Amino acid sequence: MPIDIAACRSTEEILPALAPVFHYFGATPVPQDGERFVPFIEPSRAFAAHENGAVVGGCASFPFEMTVPGGTVRVAGLSVVGVLPTHRRRGILRRMMRAQLDDVHHRREPVAALWASEDTIYGQFGYGQASVCGDIDLPKSATAFARPAPSRGEFRMLSEAEAMTPLSEVYERVRLTQPGMVARSAVWWRNRRLADPENRRRGGGELNRVLLSHDGRPSGYALYRIHQQFESGVSTGHVNVIEAVGATPEATRDIWRFVLDIDWVTRVKAMLLPVDHPLFFLLARPREMKFRVHDGLWVRLVDLPAALAARRLGNADPVVIDVADAFCEWNAGRWKVSSDGAERTTDAADLECDITALGSVYLGGFAFRQLARAGRVTEMHAGAVARADALFPSEGAPWCPEVF
Ligand SMILES: CC(C)(COP(=O)(O)OP(=O)(O)OC[C@H]1O[C@@H](n2cnc3c(N)ncnc32)[C@H](O)[C@@H]1OP(=O)(O)O)[C@@H](O)C(=O)NCCC(=O)NCCS
Repeated sequence: MPIDIAACRSTEEILPALAPVFHYFGATPVPQDGERFVPFIEPSRAFAAHENGAVVGGCASFPFEMTVPGGTVRVAGLSVVGVLPTHRRRGILRRMMRAQLDDVHHRREPVAALWASEDTIYGQFGYGQASVCGDIDLPKSATAFARPAPSRGEFRMLSEAEAMTPLSEVYERVRLTQPGMVARSAVWWRNRRLADPENRRRGGGELNRVLLSHDGRPSGYALYRIHQQFESGVSTGHVNVIEAVGATPEATRDIWRFVLDIDWVTRVKAMLLPVDHPLFFLLARPREMKFRVHDGLWVRLVDLPAALAARRLGNADPVVIDVADAFCEWNAGRWKVSSDGAERTTDAADLECDITALGSVYLGGFAFRQLARAGRVTEMHAGAVARADALFPSEGAPWCPEVF
């Protein structure tokens, strides 16, 4: 039976297109699940694979504005990719990736990004590992700060409705300086960060939204759940910090002190933290975090010159990079990259790499020298790797505090 891949034509078609990936979460999507996707995805950004009228695969992309070093860029945030186990390994993913990347190119969104369920899947479609992040599991007995300081801040628990304005204001201050963060609309805040439906608690309690203010101005916040449990009358529960953000170093210190001090639990857990998180220096015993590192965002340059024009490039002599890109051939060839951007050239190449390498360095999470050490970049002329690193300065570890 032939498989047909097509963009959705109406919002009603989006929920069925989510069914293949929901299968792997052990669920069938219900309208409540749709609230996390449908308002943000115009139908033509969602693709479904049909066989005989039945959906067997699907994927979609969010239109994001993502912070990059020195600016922001329009990004297609790929999500909800799935192919039913009845139809796996017949090339449906490959065909969906073709349709989706052509669509992103057509929309003139220079970059695509995603979180990968498995790190083996997306390299072949030109995505490079662009950030690493980590999970922590800190015993309460090891939460002391190296340099304790009294907090001047005020803390207040907020309802879902109260949280929207001050939390979004703090987030906005931070995200404009933090590569990897994406702009959030009010509906995104409500449906994806602040809403607290039962089926999203995963064994935890209610969602808590705490606001920190300094001198009367919102300066930080935390979203967290308490996972309470007892053994022989003694708590063995933990706090799960979903998102803790401070707009200043003082606010970052105070909001973490707050979540680390919550009583009647034995551990504090958090996920998706950037590898340069201040906790490494705030805590007296950072080793106790047991910071476990894994891949974070994956980035694909869809339109190479437009993507490079959107981020800051350093003041350094140009490099000519010969880029291989089998899946999006319009990017392939030799590019002269300078502080002004990228332009096509016939000059001899200084570096050779494939498009995944440029995705890896794009947000500043990796350097050309790291890729060269792993054989992902070949230096044709001595000094070219160092020059390329000077052209792609990092502003610290990229951080995207949410999986989309
Ligand atoms: C991952 C998934 C979408 C792949 O779909 P699929 O239709 O079976 O993939 P395709 O047949 O198009 O495979 C395309 C290529 O990717 C490779 N590939 C597919 N899934 C892979 C995986 N999990 N690991 C490594 N390679 C994989 C295939 O071998 C194939 O390579 P080839 O063309 O060189 O032979 C599907 O297995 C799935 O839905 N998995 C569970 C949900 C999930 O992980 N979704 C991704 C969310 S980020």
